[in-house]
Amino acid sequence: MPRKLIPSMLFVPGDDIHKLEKLWTLSADRFVLDLEDAVATNHKAMARELAVEQLNRADGQSERELYVRMNAVDTPHGLADLLAVVRPGLTGIVVPKVGSAADLQTLDWVITQLEVERGLTPGGVGLIAILESSRGIANALEIAKSTPRLMCLTFGAGDLSADLGVEVRDVDASPQRMAFIAALKAQLVVASSVAGLDPPHEGVHTVFRDLEGLRQTSEIAREIGFFGRHAIHPGQIAVIDEVFAPRPKDIEWAERVVAEFSKSEAAGSAAILVAGEFVDYAIAVRAQRILDLAGRSAPEA
Ligand code: COA
Ligand code: MG
Repeated sequence: MPRKLIPSMLFVPGDDIHKLEKLWTLSADRFVLDLEDAVATNHKAMARELAVEQLNRADGQSERELYVRMNAVDTPHGLADLLAVVRPGLTGIVVPKVGSAADLQTLDWVITQLEVERGLTPGGVGLIAILESSRGIANALEIAKSTPRLMCLTFGAGDLSADLGVEVRDVDASPQRMAFIAALKAQLVVASSVAGLDPPHEGVHTVFRDLEGLRQTSEIAREIGFFGRHAIHPGQIAVIDEVFAPRPKDIEWAERVVAEFSKSEAAGSAAILVAGEFVDYAIAVRAQRILDLAGRSAPEA
């Protein structure tokens, strides 16, 4: 059975005790305890301790996946974050401001040492890399291929806008700017595909009460090959999950194509008609991807 991808991840500020408590009451699947930009420098140590408390609480229960967004590798906080959070209860680490393959390879080495020392499954801690600098975008392919721990890439529009000097958040964007943003995002989609990663995640929609804007911009991301999005407010989760959930009619189509194609392929033909549409290997592969995203096994013909 393929692993079903979960579309939304809710960021929770690591130093906010009320919101950390709140996460245990929300009916969402994946949370990111943020130690980075949502936490002031003089709260970093406190946030780390609170994150460890949540990870201890998550250990042994499977309903909620907890990730931690660490501070960037080249900050004074990065190593301390890793030493604290690589422990039972941690599903993965969200790595901000990834600029090169070396950034993730350095992390990989440290995490491997900690996994061995702490009796965790080697390679078990996943990584999600946020590309949010010009360098990160330019190096997307080498980053995507850097380590088998890497699960997927994320497009980080806020920091990237500052770095590029071009607004690449898609709120109120002109058609020209949307085309430029899509060209940047396409690099993540292509790099992820080459490296065999899950499709990239869209970053946050910061105007968090604007659910219609969240829906529209998530639809656009979905159309260009992204799957899933980061949330900052619980109210965003349902919209994200709905936009990225495979459509029932797409699943139905994919099941039919995969079933009929595999039957005809076994009989020696790789070009068939399904409901009036010509189906060959390319279409069958696309249909299989839809089933994979939906966590469905191939149906019997
Ligand atoms: N995680 C957990 N709980 C959250 C939450 C979050 N990200 N955002 C809001 N909540 C809780 C609130 O505490 C509140 O709980 P209550 O009803 O028990 O008081 C409830 O959900 C409703 O929240 P609301 O009052 O509408 O919003 P707010 O003004 O409290 O918070 C933000 C708005 C933007 C400050 C908050 O959503 C937030 O801090 N988001 C995360 C920011 C972040 O992590 N950024 C870094 C990644 S880019
Ligand atoms: Mg940031």
